[in-house]
Amino acid sequence: MSVRWGVLGTGSIAAALTEAVRAEGGEVVAVSSADPARAAAFASAYDIERHHAPHHELLAAGDLDVAYVATTNDRHHADVLACLEAGVAVLAEKPFALDLAQTDELLAAAQRAGVFLMEAMWMRFQPAFLELERRLEAGQIGPPALLTAHFGISLPVDPTRRWFAREQGGGSLVDVGVYPLTLALAVLGEPEEITALAQLADTGVDAQLAVAMRHPTGLASWSCSFVADLGVEATVAGPEGSLRLHAPFHHAPRLTRHRGLELVEDLVVPGAELGYRHEVREVHRCLAAGRTQSERMPWELTRTLMRWLDALRAQVGVTYPGR
Ligand SMILES: NC(=O)c1ccc[n+]([C@@H]2O[C@H](COP(=O)([O-])OP(=O)(O)OC[C@H]3O[C@@H](n4cnc5c(N)ncnc54)[C@H](OP(=O)(O)O)[C@@H]3O)[C@@H](O)[C@H]2O)c1
Repeated sequence: MSVRWGVLGTGSIAAALTEAVRAEGGEVVAVSSADPARAAAFASAYDIERHHAPHHELLAAGDLDVAYVATTNDRHHADVLACLEAGVAVLAEKPFALDLAQTDELLAAAQRAGVFLMEAMWMRFQPAFLELERRLEAGQIGPPALLTAHFGISLPVDPTRRWFAREQGGGSLVDVGVYPLTLALAVLGEPEEITALAQLADTGVDAQLAVAMRHPTGLASWSCSFVADLGVEATVAGPEGSLRLHAPFHHAPRLTRHRGLELVEDLVVPGAELGYRHEVREVHRCLAAGRTQSERMPWELTRTLMRWLDALRAQVGVTYPGR
């Protein structure tokens, strides 16, 4: 029997994941929106059986194996909680919630309900990311000492869109900075010291951020931006060379190795084109095995990420309403 998914949200990522679920043999049986017309339009465009508004009505039929929460950041907590309390497993978009307190409430709810919950940190399932980890473990560049990464895109400065809207939990850090942060934690472990500088938008969220982190065995220097079209690349270096995840590094199609200025290897990463299908596979695998969490994206890692997101936001003075 194929896995029955419900999708909460009608934005661009809801569409992309719907396609990935189908490509992996899952069924998308319901979609929900705050607005009935958006729910109907999405269901019609993607040929989905049921559409609902408001969101939590999609849980009433009691026929979902898993829900994909792809609403705006401010809604993640309420939407994930509703699914868990209905006994439905959840794949929840990043940022997982608005802060650590909300994160802990959701993890406790999943524990209580005994159902699967995973943050949709799709980068951790990408073949290039796994390849990088294997090479570091094998000592290909020696112990990693320095990581640099940037995720800079240029977006229209519109205070009503989710990227800049404070009431929707916006800002470049939680939206795209979460990727270099996840990479730095994977490569160098938890930092001992962090320093962040930000340029804030008129709405009060970070338009861009520059971060330096000192880890026990090395340094990370990364930036994220909604106003600078910098690109999306990451490099890890040790005494015996460097490994580069080419743009876009969070689902890199190409990985290269350098020694000094010499390019010693250039790998076109097999499977990179499968995109979101890797995380969908993980959800299907975990559900079939009756697991409540993914070993590759466990609850504790979601907590760690959120702790550092909170710390970085505190340094630059970005807060969300009511939090
Ligand atoms: N993993 C990834 O690669 C990735 C990529 C992008 C985003 N995300 C995450 O996924 C979540 C949603 O992001 P998104 O890119 O899908 O955002 P989006 O396209 O801006 O959509 C977000 C919500 O905005 C509403 N919306 C969509 N089109 C609208 C329109 N024409 N008019 C008014 N409202 C409209 C919808 O609300 P209703 O649901 O009420 O209809 C939709 O769920 C965020 O938490 C984000 O961080 C993850």
